[in-house]
This record gives sequence, C-alpha cells and structure tokens, in this order.
Amino acid sequence: NGPKVFVSRRIPEKAKALITSQCNAILWEKDEPPPRDEYLKAIAGIDGLFCLLTDKIDAELLDAAGPNLRVVSTMSVGYDHVDVKECAKRNVAVGYTPGILTKATAELTIALLLAATRRLKEGIRAVENGEWGTWKPMWLCGQGLDGATVGIVGLGRIGYTVAQCLNPFGVAKFLYSGGRRPDAEVELKAEYADLDRLYAESDFVIACCALTPETAGMFNADAFKKMKKTAVFVNSSRGGVVNQDDLCAALQSGEIGAAGLDVTTPEPLPTDSPLLRLSNCVVLPHIGSATHDTREAMAVLAAQNLIAGVKGEKLPSQVE
Ligand code: GLV
Ligand code: GLV
Repeated sequence: NGPKVFVSRRIPEKAKALITSQCNAILWEKDEPPPRDEYLKAIAGIDGLFCLLTDKIDAELLDAAGPNLRVVSTMSVGYDHVDVKECAKRNVAVGYTPGILTKATAELTIALLLAATRRLKEGIRAVENGEWGTWKPMWLCGQGLDGATVGIVGLGRIGYTVAQCLNPFGVAKFLYSGGRRPDAEVELKAEYADLDRLYAESDFVIACCALTPETAGMFNADAFKKMKKTAVFVNSSRGGVVNQDDLCAALQSGEIGAAGLDVTTPEPLPTDSPLLRLSNCVVLPHIGSATHDTREAMAVLAAQNLIAGVKGEKLPSQVE
C-alpha cells in the first residue's frame, strides 16, 4: 500500500528506509542497473521512479511506466539523461539533487587538477615500477597554481566553489564564461571572458558546465588549438562536453599539456582507450560526489523529491 515506486539501484540505507516507510517500493537492490527490458517491465504502473544518472529516461521508458507516473527523481545534480520535455508533456515532475554535492565535487575537481598538473600518475607509477632513481632537479616538474590564470567554463555552484577553493593557492586571475556571476566578479575578481580569450589566456581550463545541446562537444580540436600548449584541461561535468578523440589527439601532439577527467564517453571508459596510454592524462571513474556524507544526502534528497512527487506536492528540488 501507498504509492507504487521503483528504486533502480542499491542506495544508502537512510534513503531506502524513508522510501519504504511511505511507499510501496519495488527495489532493485543491486549495484548494476537492471537490464533495459527488465527495467521497462518493472516500472509498469508505478507512481514514482527513483533513478540514477546512468538510467536513460526517455519517451519509451515513460510510456512503459504508464499514466500513473507523477515523478522522476534522479539521485544526481545532472539531468541530461532525463528527457525533461517528455516528462513535462506527461505532467511528470523531475527531481534532482543540486547544492548538496557542490563541495564534494569541487574538492574532487581540484584533486584531479592537482593530479594532472603535478603529474601524480607518472609519479605513482615510477615509485611502483622501481623507476624512482634519486632526487633529480628537473624530474616530474609541473605547473603550479601560484600566479596562474584559471579559466572556468560554467561558473555555477560547482564552478564557483572550485574558484573559491583554488583562490588561496595564489591564483593570479580567474576568467569565466557562461552565465554571468557578478558576485564572483566582486569576491574573486573573476573576469567574464569570451571563450577565445579564456582559452588563450588560461593555464588551467576547467569544465564545470552542464551537458546541454549548446555545450555538447564544445571542447573540440578547435578549442584545444586555441589553448596554451601547456594548458591543463579538467572535466568533472559530463563526458559529452568533450570531443574525446580531439582531446586525445591534442594531448598526444602537445597541443595542450595535460588533462584530468572524472567523466568520459562512454562510462565506463574501455580499458583499451588510447587516453589511458597517455602519461599526461588522469582518468577517474566519475567519483565527483563520492563522499559518504554527500552520497547519503543525495539519496535522501532524491527520496524526499520522490515522496513529494507521488503525493502531488512541489518537490524540494525540482527541475523547472
Ligand atoms: C554526478 O555526476 C551528478 O550529476 O550528480
Ligand atoms: C551544479 O551543481 C552547478 O550548478 O555547478
């Protein structure tokens, strides 16, 4: 009894308890997603869906759920995997989890930036492979943040927090593009710049933009060509904003210096990807928000969105 909901993965206990206390929940209690055909069958007649960023929520799936569906609640801040227009057509509210993962994701973005620029992958490999001969003045040198220009493409919650956290490293100048943020212009003296200027002047280029039709593939050969030869490119948003073949070529040819990626196309990245052969590219398995507290808070907020949605109430965090 209670509204019927489907939870498409094993999730933190606190969120599960919240859902099962108020809903008639069908739980897919595995770390692997249900195969698509099973997914489509399992959701028939549900009132609410709790999903993850790896679940493609399209017209076919919404139709399989049927006319009772009132809410799709994703345990993620990104909702590029949800066809929001198709949801709106069917009066299905879409919930997401902004805000609570900002700090964790900014932290991981900085970890990735530092790993790429200070050559941690090469260093760790050298130690493990017995290639650490002696202390050498010119060995494994990288580019520091002190005095650097940092360009942030997409100064939203995460981008802003990345900039705030990088500021004490001695960054000389922040450039940003995308939506205007007067608060950043005051607090961080960030300068709004068009992409050409941002690419040309930045020592670090950080992608913090959502994946949309406008940003899809925007980091392509043309963009990398405009960057400094020493530029360090960092992406913790979505793999789809990058043309990955172009990035690989730019890293190989020295068009840019290094890259740190927490997101790729596809995910998981196949182990034969040429990116993984490059010493100047650090790839992580989409763990931006992966702190214990953050993942629990995301799951709880997604559960709250789900429960509000099946009751026909406004969601605590609703995609507008
Ligand atoms: C993670 O990528 C998220 O969108 O929450
Ligand atoms: C995502 O949360 C962003 O707005 O940066």
